[in-house]
Amino acid sequence: MSGFMHILGFIVFPYIALTIFVLGHAWRYVTDWKRWNAASSQFLHKDSLKGGITIFHWGALLTLLGHAGGMLIPQRIYDVFGVNAAAHNFMAHWAGLVAGVLMIVGVIWLLVRRTRQDRISANTTIHDWVLLVMLLIVSGLGLYNVVFTHYDVLYSVAPWIRSIVVLAPNPALMAPVPVSYKLHILSAFVLLAYSPFTRLVHIWSAPVTYLYRSYVIFRKLPGTKGA
Ligand code: HEM
Repeated sequence: MSGFMHILGFIVFPYIALTIFVLGHAWRYVTDWKRWNAASSQFLHKDSLKGGITIFHWGALLTLLGHAGGMLIPQRIYDVFGVNAAAHNFMAHWAGLVAGVLMIVGVIWLLVRRTRQDRISANTTIHDWVLLVMLLIVSGLGLYNVVFTHYDVLYSVAPWIRSIVVLAPNPALMAPVPVSYKLHILSAFVLLAYSPFTRLVHIWSAPVTYLYRSYVIFRKLPGTKGA
């Protein structure tokens, strides 16, 4: 990669993607709040959904958690708690393998389901297809790296992503990184920039209150006869 392309890829492009991500969500929320949801297809065909959607979401949530914990928290913090780089890499490898396999099996299931069920294909937009294919590409490249490339990201990709987050980009950290990792990262930024225009906005409206809300939601008021 030439110096110019490297700066474009690992400074300019990430910030363009993050800007679209933030402004895109704000724009979508203001202009299209009625469609700010997961666009459930459960009522069109339930049986084909259950397995794939569950496997996929376990993989996706584990992946998000793993990336946040592994990339945004510096290795020196792990060292304080007695987790050295070798142990960290070992955990990341196996957790990444499980999460990656779950995500890919899940996303292929969801894609196949949309091609096989006529009612669902008829209700699938181009954004739905593109989103699932992009999820397949990003997670496929991620799993490829876990299985075949084994590059140590703790002192390269991880500090680079933190340098982007704290607005002090250091693209030199990405120079020695293998091309399959670069493709994974660049495709993930494309997905981030695209996400505000898809059903992925539902991630920001996760019903976390379900975890602690009252189980009985309809009951008669004390002292009344009720229905
Ligand atoms: C934060 C917690 C999350 C919750 C509560 C959640 C919930 C849901 C629900 C209810 C659906 C609709 C299922 C149906 O058709 O009935 C859905 C679909 C979907 N979710 Fe999530 N989700 C979460 C996180 C994520 C994440 C992190 C991703 C990916 C990065 C994701 C990607 C998708 C996709 C692609 C679909 C559509 C699948 C299809 O119909 O083909 N979700 N989600």
